[in-house]
Amino acid sequence: MDRITLESPLDMHLHLRDGDTLTLVAPLSAADFAGAVVMPNLVPPIDALDALDAYRARIAVACDTARFSPWLTLFFRAYSHDELAAARRQIIGVKLYPEGVTTNSAGGVRDLRGIDATLEHLEALGIPLLVHGETHGFVMDREREFLPVYRRLARQFPRLTIVMEHITTREAVELLGEYDNLHATITLHHLLITLDDVAGGLLQPHLFCKPIAKRPEDREALLHAALTGHPRVMFGSDSAPHPRSAKEAAGCAAGVFSAPVALPALAELFADRDVLPMLQRFVSDNARAIYRVTPPLRRITLERVPWRVPDHYGAVVPFGAGTTLAWQVTARA
Ligand code: DOR
Ligand code: ZN
Repeated sequence: MDRITLESPLDMHLHLRDGDTLTLVAPLSAADFAGAVVMPNLVPPIDALDALDAYRARIAVACDTARFSPWLTLFFRAYSHDELAAARRQIIGVKLYPEGVTTNSAGGVRDLRGIDATLEHLEALGIPLLVHGETHGFVMDREREFLPVYRRLARQFPRLTIVMEHITTREAVELLGEYDNLHATITLHHLLITLDDVAGGLLQPHLFCKPIAKRPEDREALLHAALTGHPRVMFGSDSAPHPRSAKEAAGCAAGVFSAPVALPALAELFADRDVLPMLQRFVSDNARAIYRVTPPLRRITLERVPWRVPDHYGAVVPFGAGTTLAWQVTARA
């Protein structure tokens, strides 16, 4: 199979940023995707409806939102029932960051035991909870150490839709089997790289992200879930642009900018494993069922035609910059 047409591909975890970066990156996602879950970790974070509405308006200036649905999220804090009831129709979920675990998460949750009242409101209102699930432990263990939190939340709030964002470990994949209300996004880069690619040779700042890429056996577990179309797993790029100056620096910022290469690289990955038809589930169908969203109808065709990934988009270096992918997008309708 040398060709596939995807119906309304979706990116269920995306950083669009603001200002000039928003102007640069939003059209790149809107070109290839029919919708995306947009993260709220701006400075300051989006944690009120007026800020959310203003951000939506800026996104609409940056790209064509008739062809690309930006599904916005609120940054987790203690919200009242009334605040969340008022926000419900304008958000796809609320994103929880433990304090300080990643970029722009200084305003995140310090004490995870104090969040139950807000979670009760989310559950009652049918608003999904999206979670950056990492502790402050040893960097390779942070996700695994967080899994008991997911277990507690899944058990205590059985009707709450919980999305474990950007999972990176075999244990997180296995946890999906324990609770029906747990779901997960998986990034492109965590399907392709391990810690060896980041730091096994010369340090690769453009592959540095949170959570850090893990071991080969973890990547295999992620691949198995994605390639078999696990129904509670969705593609979420976690495409997180930082300017080159912030990446190629002492104190490299965390984030892999993958939005413009995501579909070609996924097509290559699925085709190489002879499961190209499963890509539709991973990049669209599962997400539609989990979030009950209806994206604009788009048809994105990919073909096995080599494509050299640009060295940069403005000040941002993409995942795979300068390499040649075996697939490319050949038609966008
Ligand atoms: O690598 C990451 N970058 N991980 C995150 O969780 C946040 C993101 C960002 O916003 O740059
Ligand atoms: Zn993210």
